[in-house]
Parts: sequence; structure tokens; C-alpha cells
Amino acid sequence: MDFVDRPLLHDQRVESLIGGFERAFGRSPVGIAAAPGRVNLIGEHVDYNAGLVLPFAVDRSVLVAWAWPTDDVGIETESRSLQRQLHGGAVSGSIEFQSLDLNTSFLIGAMFEDAHLIEQTRSHDWTDYPSSVVWAFRNERIDYGGLDLAIAGNVPQGAGLSSSAALEVAVAGAFRDAFEIAIDDVRLAQLCQRAENEFVGVQCGIMDQFASVLSVRDHALLIDCRSLAYEAVPLRLDAAGLTIVIANSAVGRELAGSAYNDRRRECEEAVGDLRARLDRTELASLRDVTADDLEQQAIDSAPMRRARHVVTEIARVAAAADALGRDDFAALGSLMVESHISLRDDYEVSSKELDLLVGLSTAQEYVLGARLTGAGFGGCTVNLVRTDAVDAFSRDVIAPYRERTGLPAVMYVTSPQAGLRTWRL
Ligand code: GLA
Repeated sequence: MDFVDRPLLHDQRVESLIGGFERAFGRSPVGIAAAPGRVNLIGEHVDYNAGLVLPFAVDRSVLVAWAWPTDDVGIETESRSLQRQLHGGAVSGSIEFQSLDLNTSFLIGAMFEDAHLIEQTRSHDWTDYPSSVVWAFRNERIDYGGLDLAIAGNVPQGAGLSSSAALEVAVAGAFRDAFEIAIDDVRLAQLCQRAENEFVGVQCGIMDQFASVLSVRDHALLIDCRSLAYEAVPLRLDAAGLTIVIANSAVGRELAGSAYNDRRRECEEAVGDLRARLDRTELASLRDVTADDLEQQAIDSAPMRRARHVVTEIARVAAAADALGRDDFAALGSLMVESHISLRDDYEVSSKELDLLVGLSTAQEYVLGARLTGAGFGGCTVNLVRTDAVDAFSRDVIAPYRERTGLPAVMYVTSPQAGLRTWRL
């Protein structure tokens, strides 16, 4: 039995996106934006502590097809006709999103041009992500006009593979292209993060949006979340006979939101505490703390354990990047395992399901390393597996996990892809 979940071919997806756009809007799209989800190899819960992370973009993405609206051509969509009835006349200044996956659409009218009013359109569902990006452009006083957009994605949702960042980045990429907005990649990622922080209300760090915009094919992306300097680190998996397998625990991340914010608060507490104890007024984040500093303190409180995870994890990311420079995948694997233990014991964001998945995986001689990836509590693990044993992984890890938990876990076999791409048709 094979529990591998395989994505459709990219070209097929693009073709059906174009078809969907044509059905929705009655004419052809002008351009396409594709933004991938990401998996984090190592460096968890350190982006919002000014640390180092090492994610890469996966072969699953959100696609957006777009065209400037016209007042006289095409199909009068339901939301557009409502808009016309309410406000009369032209709708060319409005922005319409059509979700091809959900078969629903929504419209941000020209009357929402004021940033404050756009915020009132928050509706606590998927529409908040595209809206948040429109809001963020407005908030930065960047000009844009009307746009029709059709959206289709295949990043699993709620699985910790950044489907929301992919959606934000795809919409932002379409806007940048359609309105020739002069904003570089790093600022585009920051704009999407701000959209999620301030409009959607999720206090995420910069990693997901950054990886979705800037990833490089066949590389992992080493991001310094303090300076936003980044470096593509070659991931020569093929030559080493290795493959990255993502295992989806099939447990949603419902708890993740509140616990995520709790962890952020505990880290801030730890910073304040350490600043006072170490008498270092310049201490701004856990990035400025060393393992020695923590050992000296020898306090066993929740904030100190969180701090220990962050400080040791940042060191593990640096060591992992070095290991990749030497193609030392055994070292990378060990660092992944240490990372999981630290997330489980010190940061306390694992779950019995994630521990079971990691335990089953690391028990196999063909697995070099495994850890939870993303925020934790549910979602996925990332596994470094010998390529000739990918089928065995399904049998030895996914099958027994399903049997023991009754959960419909699946695995994705992936490789590092490029970040945001946009093109005209
Ligand atoms: C989520 C957030 C990221 C990061 C990870 C944990 O994915 O969006 O910013 O904090 O959790 O590493």
C-alpha cells in the first residue's frame, strides 16, 4: 500500500487555472503568479527571535491568474452584479478574487480604498489572506487599480507547509507584476508578513513568506532573520542518494495559534529577564544570548527552557549550513534529531502524534534524521531518507502510524524548488 500523495504536473495545473479563469471572467488571463509552500529543514521558532532558519520551497504552490478588469467585456459575475446594483456604474476599480478550489468569489470594491475600511472586511476565512495583501499595499501607500484574479492551490492546508504564506505571496506577486510596482523581493516578503500580522492577526515571523518569495531551486535558503541577509546553500541530495520526505500527521494545527503566541510571549519574558540578570542593556533578542549565558543562570523556568531551545537551535542551524557545505548529511540528520528533542522537551510544541512519527522514522536504518517542521502541535515532520528506501518509508512509518492512531497520514516526496515566479501569457 502506497501512502504517497503526488501533486499534479505543473503544466496541467496551469492549464486548468487558465480554463478556470476563462470560465469565471469570460476572457483570457494576462499573467500568472506561482508561489510555493515551504518545509523547514531546521531552525524552528527562531525567526521571531532574530535567529537563523534553513527552509526550502516545496513542489506545491498557489497559482494566481490575473487580468485587468474591463467594464464591457466578459461575464457579469454575481459579486460584480451586486456591486453594480449597490454602487451603480463602473466596476473597473474593484478587485475580484475567484477561488477555483472552493468555487466561490469575493470582491473588494473601489469604495474600500481607504486602508481602515478594508480592514473592516476581515471575515475569518480564506478571503482574509488575499484581502490582507491588498490592505498591506494600501497601507504602504502603494498605488494599484482594479484586477480580476483566479486562485488555485495544492499546498495542503493547516499542515504547517505555509499554504497561507503561499497564497499571500502569489497575490502580492500578481499585484507587483500587474501594476509594475517597484518593490524588491525582500520587501515583498515583509509586506506579506505584515499583512498576516496586522490584518489576519497571526503573529508569525518572516520565514514562511521569505522562503516562498526567495527560495532557489536545488538549494536550501539560509536566512538571517535579524539582518534579513540570506544565502542559497546547495542541497546536493541526488548525488548523496537522499530524498526529503514530508510526513503529514493528519492532525490539524488548531492549537497552534494560541500556543504560538504564548511561546512568543515567553521568549520576550526571557529576553527581559536575561537583560536584567546579565546586566546587558543592549540585549535585544535571544540571538544576543549564548549557551554560556544560560548555563550561568541555571534557572529552570518555562521562559529559560524556551530560551535554551532558541539559543541551541540557532547554533544547530549554523552547524547544519556548515554540514551542507561539506555534504555531510549524517551530521545534518543528527542535528535534525537534536532539534526535535529540543522542540519536544524545551519548547514543548510537539505532540504524541508527531513524536510517534519521528520515533518510527528514526528507528529505520535508512533514515538519517527526522523532526517536526513548522509551528508544531500537529502538521508535518521532515525526514532525510535514502532514496532507495522511500517505498519502505511508506510501509515502515506511515502504515504503522495510521494503524496505531487511526489517522489518515500521507507522505509527500519533495525537492527544493524556486520561490515566487511570475510570467505573462
Ligand atoms: C510558523 C510561522 C513561522 C515560524 C514557524 C516556526 O510557520 O509562520 O514564522 O515561526 O511557525 O518556526
